[in-house]
Amino acid sequence: MDKHVLLRDLDTPNIRELNVYQANEGYAAWRKAVGGMKPDEVIQVVKDSGLRGRGGAGFPAGVKWSFLPKDVFPKYVVVNGDESEAGTFKDHQLIEKNPHQVIEGVALCAYAVQAATAYIYLRGEFYEPSRVLQQALDEAYAAGLLGKNIQGSTYSLDIYIHLGAGAYICGEETALLESLEGKLGQPRLRPPFPAVQGLYAKPTVINNIETLANVPPIVLNGAQWYRQFGTEKSPGTKIFCVSGRVNKPGNYELPLGKHTIRELIELAGGTIDGRPVKGILPAGSSAPILPASALDTKLDYESVQAAGSILGSASFVILDDTVDIVWAARKMVRFFKHESCGKCTPCREGTHWALKLYDKIVSGHGSLHDIIMLLEVGNGMANKCFCLLGEFATSPILSTIKHFRTEYEQFVREHQGGRANGYHDELMRDHAIVDHAIAGAPGEHGSSG
Ligand SMILES: Cc1cc2nc3c(=O)[nH]c(=O)nc-3n(C[C@H](O)[C@H](O)[C@H](O)COP(=O)(O)O)c2cc1C
Ligand code: SF4
Repeated sequence: MDKHVLLRDLDTPNIRELNVYQANEGYAAWRKAVGGMKPDEVIQVVKDSGLRGRGGAGFPAGVKWSFLPKDVFPKYVVVNGDESEAGTFKDHQLIEKNPHQVIEGVALCAYAVQAATAYIYLRGEFYEPSRVLQQALDEAYAAGLLGKNIQGSTYSLDIYIHLGAGAYICGEETALLESLEGKLGQPRLRPPFPAVQGLYAKPTVINNIETLANVPPIVLNGAQWYRQFGTEKSPGTKIFCVSGRVNKPGNYELPLGKHTIRELIELAGGTIDGRPVKGILPAGSSAPILPASALDTKLDYESVQAAGSILGSASFVILDDTVDIVWAARKMVRFFKHESCGKCTPCREGTHWALKLYDKIVSGHGSLHDIIMLLEVGNGMANKCFCLLGEFATSPILSTIKHFRTEYEQFVREHQGGRANGYHDELMRDHAIVDHAIAGAPGEHGSSG
């Protein structure tokens, strides 16, 4: 790959400015589409490209767009920029450094499904990215690229930014829709799916920021051009967010399926002090952990799944041999307990009890039986939760015990009887934060929009 398809700011300084973006093929796909392509032609080229959603599930974008009924109006495009998964920071870079490519992708999607309104939902903390994006939107309006009768056509489009309130569950597409409608951010029952009844019960496309940033080069250069990158089933390039115990954490854009996890870590400067890798979290806290034996797994959806995990949003958190797996698992479970929206019992109660067990173990009061209890809680939640957050919450429990059971048993034995283990202060601090949140807020679950 000579040049980046998405992280183009790395090749072209100031591409976030409209004039620089336009001087580098920016909005050429948009002019091509509005100037002469039928909406269905745009859907077809995206379908042919095989572009898969980059928000986590990897569903083919063009196929999703084709599900919208043709005769129901209004329709909406909703862009998922919640980016709350631990270790995910790719959408952030796209919005801040290449915002016009994101806007152009949103516009092409809206045109393809004939929506006249699009909302870009950003996580609550994205003040600066939202400012940059709004500035880019203003520039695009001023240049006649958005608004009424774009480029002299009959097509009109408005794009709005909406900031959430910093709840992880609002990244789940139906909770996001609730939040956008001004309601408590909790998932909806499906069906009906958003393509049929989404925002304000109207047909809606929901796509991730990175997914849509792929669309302009696809429409401009064609599906075959896009398919020169990646594999048959996982075409294109993907941004890999690398963090944890590496020397150069950051975003790395690579063709899917060409490189291995080991090579990705090398690209990120290798592990700190060259220490051996102990575990890999390929999609932040949501994905089952992989042991070091998976280092030669290829970076595409199918290969990571075959290795026993998911590629998800490709936020690789690297754990080396200095990381205590029980401590890491507790941290992830605490995150899920805090972010559980409380709507369904398995997740609300399961994350609560799992954290209690981890606290018991980590504070040195656990027994080997508590490891079995953790498995029971995790298995009791699996496949019984209302939405995927609850399923994700079982990953740190079940996968770390699966691959690192000996370490759990060793931890319990070494710390039994409450012997000092260095985690006491951290536990106390965590509990103080939660107590403070409960005392200061109407509810513990900050998931309102
Ligand atoms: C708990 C939870 C959190 C999620 N968070 C995000 C997120 O922050 N950003 C995102 O794009 N998708 C997130 N998703 C996935 C979305 O529900 C949805 O699949 C995605 O936005 C669809 O876009 P795509 O097809 O372009 O990937 C999350 C899903 C779950 C279950
Ligand atoms: S699984 Fe968790 S986050 Fe999802 S609806 Fe149930 S309680 Fe809410």
